[in-house]
Amino acid sequence: MQALVLVGGKGTRLRPLTTETPKPILKLVDRPFLSYMIEWLASHGVDEIVFACGFLPDQLERVLGNGGGDSPALHYVVEPEPLGTAGAIKFAEEYLNDRFFALNGDVLTDLDLTALWNSHLENGASASLGLYPVDDPAGYGLVDLDESGRVLDFHEKPEPGHAGPGLINAGTYVLEKSVLAGVAAGRQVSIEREVFPSLIGNGLRGMRLDGYWMDIGTPDRYLEASWDIVEGRVRTGAETNPEGMYIGSDCEIATGAKVGPRAIIGNRSILDSGSSVSNSVLISDCEVGSGAVVIDSILSPGVRVKGGVRVEGRVLGKNEVIDA
Ligand code: GDD
Ligand code: MG
Repeated sequence: MQALVLVGGKGTRLRPLTTETPKPILKLVDRPFLSYMIEWLASHGVDEIVFACGFLPDQLERVLGNGGGDSPALHYVVEPEPLGTAGAIKFAEEYLNDRFFALNGDVLTDLDLTALWNSHLENGASASLGLYPVDDPAGYGLVDLDESGRVLDFHEKPEPGHAGPGLINAGTYVLEKSVLAGVAAGRQVSIEREVFPSLIGNGLRGMRLDGYWMDIGTPDRYLEASWDIVEGRVRTGAETNPEGMYIGSDCEIATGAKVGPRAIIGNRSILDSGSSVSNSVLISDCEVGSGAVVIDSILSPGVRVKGGVRVEGRVLGKNEVIDA
């Protein structure tokens, strides 16, 4: 089985974490974000993944490699300019099977893709959308179904307060390649705003999927996803710890330094005596000086917090030095 993963976005809401590192390979707990997606897809029988890339594609390939062996083969297709969510799939058309999964590359999830695939086949759908229930659909694609699972309405980005709880587009699709016939090549096309609305009444189906689902596109959600992984609320291959703590390799933690509640101390980080890190992620190679306090923050690789300084609610870029 094949999957196309959209990874062309710039991840602007996660800056400065994503200034030099594309969001798809931003480290989340102990591995690049996309590794969770690759493992999840493999667990549902996917053996080939096509990444539709735009921003900083070389880094992506360098970090993730070409797969193969027991894990899916990985291919990279690079658009000359961002073509939108449908334009990017169209651009990769020659590499695609007649039927494939298509996924937004910025969600952490363990939803049941096999159920979506089976329902797609049973119903002879042209496109099947995995849906997830949320209290506030603002910022997502809101989907309305009839009782048999046919999509009645697809409303991308409803206004805040537009509607109560609803089923949103989880960015998880099974597509027939034939739907690409109607997509213009070489220009920006949105699958949410153009393609799905045009398929209503024409084999567009939706299915509510249960499990864990989160778009990690903001610092708050990045932190939340970290605790969900470490505390085991999403099924991943990562080790779990009920206190929400993860300490990477080659760290130096002075006796008397306080770690947690909730802390990811990435590889080669140093916590000096009397320092304290809570509800925060140190991605790697960070140093927290003696008596310094880090709370509710995300530190990119190489950040140094000088002794005695308090860092609260900050998102810091690579190699920043925080002085009193
Ligand atoms: N290759 C490529 N080219 N990828 C793109 C492009 C492009 O031009 N534009 C966006 N992407 C990728 C992004 O990297 C991301 O993985 C995915 O497509 C979705 O784009 P976002 O910009 O993150 O969209 P969103 O989060 O506002 O909304 C989408 O996701 C929601 C669920 O998280 C929509 O699909 C909503 O309907 C959905 O509910
Ligand atoms: Mg998104």
